[in-house]
Amino acid sequence: MDIFIHPSSYVDDGVKIGDGTKIWHFSHILKGSEIGKNCIIGQNVMIGPDVKIGNRCKIQNNVSLYKGVELEDDVFCGPSCVFTNVINPRAFIERKNEFKNTLVKKGATIGANSTIICGITIGKYALIGAGAVVNKNVPDYALFYGTPAKLMGWVCKCGVVLVNKGKIKGNQIAENKIVCENCKSTYFYNNDEFYPISEVNL
Ligand SMILES: CC(C)(COP(=O)(O)OP(=O)(O)OC[C@H]1O[C@@H](n2cnc3c(N)ncnc32)[C@H](O)[C@@H]1OP(=O)(O)O)[C@@H](O)C(=O)NCCC(=O)NCCS
Ligand SMILES: [Zn+2]
Repeated sequence: MDIFIHPSSYVDDGVKIGDGTKIWHFSHILKGSEIGKNCIIGQNVMIGPDVKIGNRCKIQNNVSLYKGVELEDDVFCGPSCVFTNVINPRAFIERKNEFKNTLVKKGATIGANSTIICGITIGKYALIGAGAVVNKNVPDYALFYGTPAKLMGWVCKCGVVLVNKGKIKGNQIAENKIVCENCKSTYFYNNDEFYPISEVNL
């Protein structure tokens, strides 16, 4: 396998890029950054400095991942979503030592045009709806959307919404058991609790 970097993009010296990763037009990867294997980096993406991205991530067009942001494996960043790293910026005060970290865990999806306020963790396989403003931690498998984004439901590992606004959209096979019709994974669900009972490999 090899790495594709479109000639219009810049990759600074020392950046690590894994096999099979593709970087499309007009993007810039800054020093100290590490991108895993088989990632797709879209057009007009800025990554770094010192940003770590796992394997198989997809970063859509117009996304900037600043220092302090970390993506685990299989993370999807929708087009034009916005990450931040300073909570109270001023043009005339240097706040480089006050960066707050943002961690996006394995398999999570960030919707198009959403904004992630720094200092939070987005859980494993969580899904952030388009246009959300996320300012608090998002549990694993949670569906968050709105401004400010709130816990609205739960999603399957495969991305199908299983609960939204208390409405069960999956196949409820027992009082606290929901099966995803798409991939057949099974989850425990009880108001604010949701976790896998058996999950298929995807
Ligand atoms: C949240 C999402 C996954 C849909 O979930 P869903 O359960 O299928 O939602 P539905 O379309 O059935 O809508 C259910 C309710 O959620 C609301 N809703 C859905 N998405 C919303 C969003 N992003 N922001 C605010 N409200 C939203 C709907 O208005 C509806 O509200 P109502 O019950 O008051 O009418 C989807 O709308 C979304 O935002 N996906 C992200 C798309 C994206 O950014 N892709 C990036 C790559 S192109
Ligand atoms: Zn599923």
